[in-house]
Amino acid sequence: MTLKLENVSAGYRRLEILHDINLSVAPGEIVSIIGANGAGKTTTLRTLAGLINPSKGKIFFHDADITRYRADQVVRSGLVHVAQDRALFGNLQVIENLHMGAFTRPTKTIQSSLEQVFELFPILKDRRTQIAGTMSGGQQQMLAIGRALMAQPKCLTLDEPSIGLAPNLVAQVLEAVSRIRETGVTVLIVEQNASQALAISDRAYVMESGSIVLEGTGQELSDSPEVRKAYLGM
Ligand SMILES: Nc1ncnc2c1ncn2[C@@H]1O[C@H](COP(=O)(O)OP(=O)(O)O)[C@@H](O)[C@H]1O
Ligand SMILES: [Mg+2]
Repeated sequence: MTLKLENVSAGYRRLEILHDINLSVAPGEIVSIIGANGAGKTTTLRTLAGLINPSKGKIFFHDADITRYRADQVVRSGLVHVAQDRALFGNLQVIENLHMGAFTRPTKTIQSSLEQVFELFPILKDRRTQIAGTMSGGQQQMLAIGRALMAQPKCLTLDEPSIGLAPNLVAQVLEAVSRIRETGVTVLIVEQNASQALAISDRAYVMESGSIVLEGTGQELSDSPEVRKAYLGM
């Protein structure tokens, strides 16, 4: 397994939000976590990113126990998080944001990643000197993903990359996620656009009130009457 959470509980101060989470992602998979607002999806990804310390359980990444890693150590290990708020440097240029993503790497080695990002998102090449904060929501999301790729991740975690985007951009961003996987990067994605997330996912987990309540292949969950009713609005 590339990534594995074993019996992980976590939360904020004394408030436990995640209860005994077991979740795994195999090399090269796209795995999604779906669930209602407040279910604990963001808390799960923040725990993986080293931003929240689990109160219980273990996290393994490529056989290393990363449970107690700090956020920067997690990034260096190859697990890179794209936060829901994108956390761009809004007053810096596109290209400067991309260089920031490569902070863990020697400058000489980053050119090939930059070319890869520009191939994936040509708009970022055209707009390389634009101030990030002046770009559209969709372009900013592409930049946030591009910046994460600059860290040369083995596994990317994405928190609602399509949030707030127009439908055609939702499709574009999710299609980019599929192409990123084709380059060998493993993906764990959280989405409220459940049907579109399931369509690109090999497997998925359904989270409710801080627990995993269902798991299966993307197809199984798309076909599940419970999932269709609760999350696909059918
Ligand atoms: N900083 C925080 N302090 C305390 N509680 C929080 C904090 N952030 C989120 N929560 C709570 O944790 C629960 C799960 O939130 P979250 O992980 O953001 O859910 P989701 O991403 O699935 O919408 C919610 O009840 C939320 O109110
Ligand atoms: Mg969230």
